[in-house]
Amino acid sequence: MSVRPADDADAAALLAYKRRPQCQAYVARTVDTLDETRALIADRLSQPDSLLCAVVLDGQVVGDIGGRTYRPESLGPEPAVHDFYLGYTINPDHWHQGLASAATALLITALHDAGIRRIVAKTFAENAASIRVLTKNAFRLEGTERCAVLGRDGRWLDDCTLAHLAE
Ligand SMILES: CC(C)(COP(=O)(O)OP(=O)(O)OC[C@H]1O[C@@H](n2cnc3c(N)ncnc32)[C@H](O)[C@@H]1OP(=O)(O)O)[C@@H](O)C(=O)NCCC(=O)NCCS
Repeated sequence: MSVRPADDADAAALLAYKRRPQCQAYVARTVDTLDETRALIADRLSQPDSLLCAVVLDGQVVGDIGGRTYRPESLGPEPAVHDFYLGYTINPDHWHQGLASAATALLITALHDAGIRRIVAKTFAENAASIRVLTKNAFRLEGTERCAVLGRDGRWLDDCTLAHLAE
């Protein structure tokens, strides 16, 4: 498994899994067409604070991982560091193979090496696989906002914040 920057040529591969209901349940910006997927990739590539990587297995794109940098809050001086919001999706045909865990491990190292101080992942309490990916990678649960987000099925979901700090 490897991770590399995604580009427009990955749109069809991303769409193949991102359109599946299992991949949309907990995701804010979903895509259902090739045009929407190309627009999503173009948006990410055009935003300097954004990162979108393809997760590649045996030459095939089987997932994506990325997010965006942001300035931590400050009570005064402009922080001299950046933090990062992390997100990922793996093709359900390749779930339970350790891919999200391995891709997250790679990104943690790369982001901290690049000077990112704090990596934050927001995930819903009932998304057990995602929470496991994070806790396996030494993210710590920092808090849970109860019934904070309205889910696609009309239920209010508990929203968890987990984070990984640079040493
Ligand atoms: C979350 C997701 C990326 C996990 O991908 P994955 O490649 O299957 O994850 P991994 O194989 O690395 O490992 C997942 C861990 O969670 C566990 N797990 C998987 N499904 C689980 C479930 N339903 N309940 C509890 N644990 C689960 C696995 O056993 C594994 O832990 P282990 O190594 O201790 O056995 C994948 O389910 C996904 O794409 N979901 C849809 C998109 C999404 O929700 N993204 C996160 C938004 S914040």
